[in-house]
Formats: sequence, structure tokens, C-alpha cells
Amino acid sequence: MWSWASGGEYELGFRLVFVVRSMGTLHTSVPYNVGRMCGFGLTGSVWSCDGVPLSAIVAAVGTPAYVYSAATIRSYPHAIHYALKANSNLAVVRVVRAAGGLVDANSGGEIDVALRAGYTPDDIVLTGVGKTPAEIDQAVALGVKAINAESSGELDRIAAAARARKTVARVALRVNPDVAANSHPHISTGQSTHKFGVPLGAARAIARQAAAREELEFVGLHVHVGSQMLGLDPLRQAAAAVVGLVRELRDDEVTVEYVDLGGGLGIAYEGEVVPSADQYAAALIEVVRPSGLTLVVEPGRAIVGAAGALLTSVVDVKPQPGGKQFVVLDAGMSELMRPALYGAYHRIVLVEPCAADPVSCDVVGPICESSDVFGVDRLLPLPTAGAVVAVLDAGAYGSSMASNYNRHPQPAEVMVDAGAWRVVRRRQTIDDQLACEE
Ligand code: LLP
Repeated sequence: MWSWASGGEYELGFRLVFVVRSMGTLHTSVPYNVGRMCGFGLTGSVWSCDGVPLSAIVAAVGTPAYVYSAATIRSYPHAIHYALKANSNLAVVRVVRAAGGLVDANSGGEIDVALRAGYTPDDIVLTGVGKTPAEIDQAVALGVKAINAESSGELDRIAAAARARKTVARVALRVNPDVAANSHPHISTGQSTHKFGVPLGAARAIARQAAAREELEFVGLHVHVGSQMLGLDPLRQAAAAVVGLVRELRDDEVTVEYVDLGGGLGIAYEGEVVPSADQYAAALIEVVRPSGLTLVVEPGRAIVGAAGALLTSVVDVKPQPGGKQFVVLDAGMSELMRPALYGAYHRIVLVEPCAADPVSCDVVGPICESSDVFGVDRLLPLPTAGAVVAVLDAGAYGSSMASNYNRHPQPAEVMVDAGAWRVVRRRQTIDDQLACEE
């Protein structure tokens, strides 16, 4: 972990700037960043991932399939806690780990994945608004770097688990700063009406009590105000809130090791202007630096979002009354839920050139729900059945949110690394799905 309290000021500042400068290359993918070094783009007239034609992958593994660019994941250095919820495929997590990233787990299952990927407990912070007794006990028994507690009741439960195991649990307190993320309401988490953390006004007393308990080591303050944020002000405000709390706690003779500002930095799904790496780093450091505390961040999307695409085949094309076309794919909300759940925009491209004139298409999935739409009014050369389509920027919250709805199998996942590719998750079979049933 970086500390610029202990003579590491330059290093931390530099490192964080470096981290987010690299991250800047992740936000902009073709066609928004002509000339990027890695990721998805046109090689001649065909779409490829780090030089590997996507059609070659489809020929071998079929569709739907997620494809990831290891180089794109690596281009974000990781003295940070990567939020596993964005994508916890073991191969993805191993790339993050090899690049130096630590982890933020949101469940016992994510802790298990982190351990399988080679992490040790002190690399892991456990977040989550509804930790079960089993998850608390698991984290306490392992001795994770911190459990981010969401309430005073949860602090009691963590203390009880620690007492039962005759150990001391490291805890941080998640504070709800009542800050609007200015993002989609479903992924805004830092306002007083949201279920996350303890109100800022109550945090001082709760933190003081926690720090006084012998079963607990009070190590940090945590905030996460939202995801896919395109502005830095919410992060500044959240940081200022916890830094102010740190000062108050110092007056109470309670000290912490770090502040954890969560994740939330957005990516350019639709060519939006996202904060530059330098702006992001400067914003966080400027607010936290006077506290002298170590800075922890938990990005997910910014690391893996642009590093993945969902490959899917056209299964039907049919005209709509009014002249538009429906392009029906073999992947839908069961594989990539973001459009149905948040109205999220993902670029959709034909993997191989098509001579037809662009027409207005509604690109839809095969699921029996009218929300199962990947894109409305997209101008595409009208494909024929069998054509392969790539849904871009699907590396975060794609496969990790996929379901078996309509008994769709979890898609195959492929890692492209240094010009070679391999299957890192085989397509689920119906036997896999039925293995837990009578
Ligand atoms: N830390 C905490 C405590 C979080 O709850 C989250 C995300 C992160 C870090 C990582 O945030 P990121 O850097 O990825 O924005 N399914 C939604 C996103 C949900 C985010 C939930 N929490 C989507 O597809 O947009």
C-alpha cells in the first residue's frame, strides 16, 4: 500500500498519477482513440482483439462468447483494490494480481475466488451491505486486511465473531456522505436514501465506539458514492467528507491508517468525455494529502470495462412496420444485463465487413422480455443470419451479472494475451446447469 505520510509522498503522488494515466488508455476504445496500443479495434476491415481477428475466435468457440484483452487489463497498474464484482473470472483476476492489484470482495464467494487466484487475506477488503454471519466469520477467521462495516450492528457481529475466534478483526467504517453521484439512479450509492453505510453525522460516534473495542482494530474509513461517474465532484465531496471525519476522530484520539474512496470512475461507452487520468489523480490526492493518510481506491469498471467484448451471432433479421429492422442475436439480457437493467449504451459492431448500406436497426436478444434490447435505432449495414456482432466495452458487469434465464448457458470466455488466445471459461452445458438439481 502506498503511504505518503511516511516519506513516500512523491512516490504515492507519482504512482497514483501513473495509475490513472494508464487507466486513461482504457477509457477510450476504438473509434474514440485511434492508435491505442491494445484492446478492440479494426485491423484492416475486420474487428480484432490485440491483433487476433474476432472471427477466428468465433470459428473455434462459437457464440455467445466474452473475449478479454489481457494487455488492456494490465495497462492499469494495480496498487489498488480491484472490485471483483466487475469481473471475477479467475483468469482476469490473475492478470490483475500479476500486475500488482489487490482486491475488494463483495461476498464470501468473491473471497474464495481471490484466494484461488493466489491472493492472501491481507490483500483483501470485504465490502457489502448484507454480510451474512458465515461471510463475517470467514473474513474474521482469515484475517482480511479490513471488513468495511456497514452499521453499528454489523460492527457488533464482527466483534462477536472475533471474540469467538480469539482474534482481533481489522475493520473500516463505510460512511454514507449524502453525495449525489450524478450517475444512473440504480448505481448511485452515496445519498442518505441509499442503503449503504452509516450517515456521516452518526459516523464519528460509531467509529469512536469501534475503536474502543478490544476485538476490533479500527483501520480506515470507506466511501463509495456510485459507479460510472463522469465528473469528479462527487468523488471530491466524498473524499472531503471522510477527511473531515478523520480530523474529528483525531480530536477524539482515534487514528486510522487509510481512507478508501471506493470505485466509480466511468468509462466512455458512447464517446462521453471522462475525467482524464491526471484529473482523477489530482482530485483525489488534493483532498486526501493534507490528512497524511494512505489512499485506497476500489475501481472495477475502469480496469476491465474496455478490456472485454461480447461476441454474438445474428440469428434472425426481420422488418418492423415503419421501416426499421429487428436484428435478433443469440445473446441477450441473460448474457449482458446492462442495457435491460440500466438502459446502458454499448457500441455494437459487425465483426467482419458487410457491403450493405447502413439501415436503422433495433438490436435485440432472444429472451422473452421486451426489455431484452441491446440497442435501439442503431445504424448498421443490414447483416444476414450468421453474421457475428461484437458488443463492446462489456468487460465489466457483463459475465459477472450473467444468468441462466431461459436456460441460457453461461457463455464461453476467452483471454487474448500477447497475440495468442485461450478459453478461460468453457461454455456451460445443460448438465452443468442441472448438476445442482434433483
Ligand atoms: N467499491 C464498492 C463498494 C462498490 O460497490 C463498487 C461497485 C465498486 C467499488 C466498483 O465500482 P466501479 O469502479 O466499477 O464503478 N452493475 C452496474 C455497476 C454496479 C456497481 C456496484 N458497485 C453496471 O453494470 O453499471
